[in-house]
Amino acid sequence: MNPVHPSEKPLRMDGFSKLTKEEKLKRICGLFPDASEAEREIRSFWHMDPNIQKQLDEFSENTITNFFFPYGVVPNVVINGRTYTVPMVIEESSVVAAAAKSAKFWSTRGGFQARVVSVEKIGQVHFIWMGRPEKLKALFPELKTQFLAGTRHITGNMEKRGGGILDIQLVDMTHHEPGYYQVKAIFDTCDSMGANFINSCLEEFALILREFMQEAEGLEATEREVTVIMSILSNYTPNCKVECVVECPVEELGTFDGGLSAQEFMRKFSLAVKVAQVDPHRATTHNKGIYNGIDAVVLATGNDFRAVEACGHTYAARDGQYRSLTRMESSEGRFRYVLEVPMALGVVGGLTRLHPMARRSLELLGHPSAQELMMIAATMGMANNFAALKSLVTTGIQKGHMKMHLLNILNHFEATEKEKELAVEYFKHNKVSFNAVRSYLVALREGLIEGSAEKISPEVISDIKLS
Ligand code: MEV
Repeated sequence: MNPVHPSEKPLRMDGFSKLTKEEKLKRICGLFPDASEAEREIRSFWHMDPNIQKQLDEFSENTITNFFFPYGVVPNVVINGRTYTVPMVIEESSVVAAAAKSAKFWSTRGGFQARVVSVEKIGQVHFIWMGRPEKLKALFPELKTQFLAGTRHITGNMEKRGGGILDIQLVDMTHHEPGYYQVKAIFDTCDSMGANFINSCLEEFALILREFMQEAEGLEATEREVTVIMSILSNYTPNCKVECVVECPVEELGTFDGGLSAQEFMRKFSLAVKVAQVDPHRATTHNKGIYNGIDAVVLATGNDFRAVEACGHTYAARDGQYRSLTRMESSEGRFRYVLEVPMALGVVGGLTRLHPMARRSLELLGHPSAQELMMIAATMGMANNFAALKSLVTTGIQKGHMKMHLLNILNHFEATEKEKELAVEYFKHNKVSFNAVRSYLVALREGLIEGSAEKISPEVISDIKLS
């Protein structure tokens, strides 16, 4: 049976990818009950410059339009004494504001200190070979020489830039599966994320491996057979890692909402971090807050946020339990908070220079190296996490969140610019909630309140019957 869309139109579309963009657009719009309005709306998101639109279309398959996300910036981010204006692409309303608050807070307390701990990336050829392990181990040094020589045409340029293949190891995995081994290679891919470089080297290793075993001396006929399962980089790069630290004397933390002293704040903050160390439920949310900041920079610079997230979450579970990526290292009288996170980023290759806004982001950041970009991304992770914990252990998160969400709620109710202006003023002094905003708009629209927004009492608003 042909599956149907809720609009009762048939969903199966053979040969869709072969259609032109116009044809695809029409076919898809035909699925909407208001086909011509849908087409108008979808087209309205096309870029006005057809050359740029073509470039965007060609990043992916079956493209019919663009999906917009806000591109925001956080000024005054001080990292290792240098001030950056950091671009962030994110849809969640409070993320940029939270990062900006943290950046401001730490800018007068020494800023963020970041350093890249290591830059190694990993790729694997997974294969089956049914022979005596010692034989393979004895052959491996010669095989390794051939891997290096046979990939020189790929690695030459990377070596000129200071990178290349750092090591190649044989890993015996036969305790998991009879005959299962890995060629595990370690790479330095300099300023590129390196996925294509690594995968090209690995596929070459796989060919060399098969040929080598065909010709190697002293093997039985059955030992000449190699089944290559797959050759692929690993997105888990625990040794491509960056660390970001914020620290200051405790008293310099100042005082906090609710009259919390610096000492009390540090104690509650430390407990919050402890909770995220021991409880996977909290650790997941804690780390999600870190990735609010990291992903936004990764996206703005055209990097692969799925790879960055997958890597970080595996790292967070490296001892068998999922834990916080941050830790407290405070000592007597000193607040010190550390984020340690692995990530593979590039500033050349991929979309980094192809996407016009990714190119602009890198320019805005002063053309950073990949290592510098790792430090910037980690810093924004730290900034967002610090802001989140600071709110959580003082005022609670909803106050700030809902303030930031106010415009979304107003837009939901199709508030006019004037209504928004009045509402923003009113909710500066009153608690934002979906219902409160709805009641406020009802009151405004029904003329139940008038004049300056500041004069409206919350009691009047809460008394208004919800429509
Ligand atoms: C919301 O996007 C992120 C937070 O939940 C993070 C946290 O709880 O630490 C606020």
